[in-house]
Amino acid sequence: MKIAIGNDHAAIELKKTIKEYLESLGNEVVDLGANENKGISYTVFGEAVAEKVVAKEVDFGVLICGTGVGISIAANKVPGIRAAVCSDPTTARLVKEHNNANIIAFGARIVGSEAAKDIVDAYMNATFQGGRHADRVNMISDIEKKYSK
Ligand code: RB5
Repeated sequence: MKIAIGNDHAAIELKKTIKEYLESLGNEVVDLGANENKGISYTVFGEAVAEKVVAKEVDFGVLICGTGVGISIAANKVPGIRAAVCSDPTTARLVKEHNNANIIAFGARIVGSEAAKDIVDAYMNATFQGGRHADRVNMISDIEKKYSK
């Protein structure tokens, strides 16, 4: 798979670990930064990964900041993005199966590197179940359209 990854200054080390892990599994990882601990904002990297996902240049995105929250909120402002913060593998599986999340996010100040690997594994091994869940995902898209005027 081709995966875009982005992070802020709080998550540079965990991003490197997860990037290497994803590559070790045979994935191609597009690293959109940040790789330097300068005055950088999670908003920039959340948007950058979201753009790659909606353009279908990658299969999905991974975002990491201190909590996973700020960077996912930023990404979720891009129409078509369903970024989900996950702190455990069960949530990571269900956000794919039920919500068809196209970005998973987590916090470098919340989860350790082994938990983060389990989270990406659970997400990648899951499949969107469609059916009633597709109806709800479509309803989310309808809300987005309603407020995108
Ligand atoms: C940066 O200090 C921190 O606010 C950021 O990484 C993230 O946790 C925001 O949601």
